[in-house]
Amino acid sequence: MLDTVTPTVVTMERATLYLGDANELLHRLGRVALVTDPPYLFDNSGGGTFRAARGASDQIVAEGLDQGFDHTIINPLLHPSVVIFCHNDQLADLLTYLNGNYRRVCVHVWIKPNPSPHRNKHYLADTEFYVVASDDISDTEFFIHAWQEGHHPVGAHPDMHRHVTAASQPSKLWGHPTVKPDAVMDKIITNVAGEIICDPFMGTGSSGVAAVKAGRRFIGIEHNPKHFATAVERLRLAHEDHVPP
Ligand SMILES: C[S@@+](CC[C@H](N)C(=O)[O-])C[C@H]1O[C@@H](n2cnc3c(N)ncnc32)[C@H](O)[C@@H]1O
Repeated sequence: MLDTVTPTVVTMERATLYLGDANELLHRLGRVALVTDPPYLFDNSGGGTFRAARGASDQIVAEGLDQGFDHTIINPLLHPSVVIFCHNDQLADLLTYLNGNYRRVCVHVWIKPNPSPHRNKHYLADTEFYVVASDDISDTEFFIHAWQEGHHPVGAHPDMHRHVTAASQPSKLWGHPTVKPDAVMDKIITNVAGEIICDPFMGTGSSGVAAVKAGRRFIGIEHNPKHFATAVERLRLAHEDHVPP
């Protein structure tokens, strides 16, 4: 029960959404699976002539989405299965933490066939993926799946790939600069064990939409009131479409 801080809470049949701080709230929510896309830690300055083509850069900086997060809020006892997106620059720290605390840790990639043009005396944002047959270059973003004994990945054999391909969302979709595509979130929810999926950095609620679609329960936390309102709206729509009356 949440008693010392009283955040704004919106409850629906399969979702509970908190407007508040993940660092305050997450450890009070009990045992849940985490599926989350936290603020990345990276240098988002520069970009030169490419920056103008990457509309999201300034909003990412303005909202602090380049400042990282405290990964010790991931609790190996409370969160027996965890899927977490991260930037290249966070991989070493996150993998060290997760390897020390979880039974198995697997790195996955989301392959984006529409790479951001943002590079200036640097590589693409994450990892380049070159398709020899077509001469195409994709950008990739990492996500890590870690689990404890008894909380292994789930899903049918053909769904157990460690990659998923989907175009990045337009930078202004839902007024948020880093909305994750449905195909990516659907794949992740298909593979993660746990009846209750929690996203402590839910943004516009993409993880929640996928969880509700898949018949799971969802708990989300978001501290930005504008994005919280969008998540409430998206989760209401997901209930209309996927939860029988
Ligand atoms: C990378 S975005 C997630 C976007 C989400 N995957 C989507 O598809 O909309 C991270 C979100 O975490 C929120 N956030 C950052 N720090 C937070 C905190 N301490 N507590 C709660 N939310 C936080 C930001 O406002 C942002 O919307």
